Amino acid sequence: MDVLTDMSRDITPTRPFSDEESESLKLHNGFEALVRSEQVSWQMSYRLLRPLGSGGQGVVMLADRINHHGLPFRVALKFYRPSVYPDQTLYRRDMERVARVAMQLARTQQDHLVDVFNVVEANEVQIVLMEWIDGIDLAHLLRPHMLDRVRAQVDDDHWEHVNDVVVTHAKSQLRLQPGIASAILRDCLVGVASLHREGIVHADLKPANVMIKRTGTCKLIDFGSAFHANDLPFRSTWTPRYAAVEVLQGKMPTPASDLASLGYIFVEMLSGAYPFPDAETNSEFVDAKRALPANLRSMLPEDVAGNERLVHLIQRLIDPDPARRFESAEVAELGPDGTSEFQKQLVKGNLSSEYANEIRLLLEKMAHPQP
Ligand SMILES: Nc1ncnc2c1ncn2[C@@H]1O[C@H](COP(=O)(O)OP(=O)(O)O)[C@@H](O)[C@H]1O
Ligand SMILES: [Mg+2]
Repeated sequence: MDVLTDMSRDITPTRPFSDEESESLKLHNGFEALVRSEQVSWQMSYRLLRPLGSGGQGVVMLADRINHHGLPFRVALKFYRPSVYPDQTLYRRDMERVARVAMQLARTQQDHLVDVFNVVEANEVQIVLMEWIDGIDLAHLLRPHMLDRVRAQVDDDHWEHVNDVVVTHAKSQLRLQPGIASAILRDCLVGVASLHREGIVHADLKPANVMIKRTGTCKLIDFGSAFHANDLPFRSTWTPRYAAVEVLQGKMPTPASDLASLGYIFVEMLSGAYPFPDAETNSEFVDAKRALPANLRSMLPEDVAGNERLVHLIQRLIDPDPARRFESAEVAELGPDGTSEFQKQLVKGNLSSEYANEIRLLLEKMAHPQP
């Protein structure tokens, strides 16, 4: 039996305790009281370091949680903006719903979904506390200047390899090679499949909401528009460029509309161009998306357009008719026409690469500014 357990017995002192002994007994009793109690609480403070991003729904800040040794633990805090709600009652009500989704997400603990730690309130403003994902979002990754940093750091052979296997300059953005783009799509599908199994629709999938971690894996973020099928938001919010045709026409987002959004993201990664650049109004986006199956091959680089399996995979994601898309994200990943079969084809064609590792090395070279 160790000393601490011994001290938990009733000790009848034969002499008065020294100061040191009483302190030690107090500490020990404190420990015993804590582990036997039903609730514990303490104060926690966060040092706000810099904004990670901001949009219609709020501001995401990089922060350090400071523990009692003064040591920092890096996290991300999303502050939900009240001004987008007509009144504070609606803000509060919707924040309760956002909190329910966040907590469901926290329980899900899927590797390709951001880890949520807690939902807290300060100044009556809701804050979601989540893991800080050390990496870069896909919208930033596809910006042309990101590759300039890589060029400056590698020799000619390595540069050729990066361009052949990983990423290259294209039209308005960078273009990912099919192996890399499909590895990213696959991670997104795995994350989305687990969301859908939980009854949650993400409803705002777009490159800015896909984080590429430094380790090379991807995580979905931004659950501000997400909702459970039995717990609908007071209004649905989405981004016209990445929303499915039926959502643009007024239907609620569904698992099938999440698939279409992933399809548009996939086309963007493969083509190196901002999708539907000429569309501005909802009806222009609808027309452009309806025309996408027919225009697809001409938008893609030759090697991609000539790959029947890949084109078929894209078609099954972006079909304007939701009933003709993949039945589920799981089927889009694991089914006979899905991403995993496509990746097997790459292996057979000896085009395979360790994609997560390639992405990791790429991010290392892009050396995005450290906080
Ligand atoms: N947990 C996180 N770790 C690292 N970066 C993040 C995290 N959450 C958000 N970001 C960055 O902040 C941006 C905005 O966050 P997001 O949750 O998408 O807010 P909004 O609802 O305003 O779009 C993202 O595009 C991403 O670049
Ligand atoms: Mg976002």
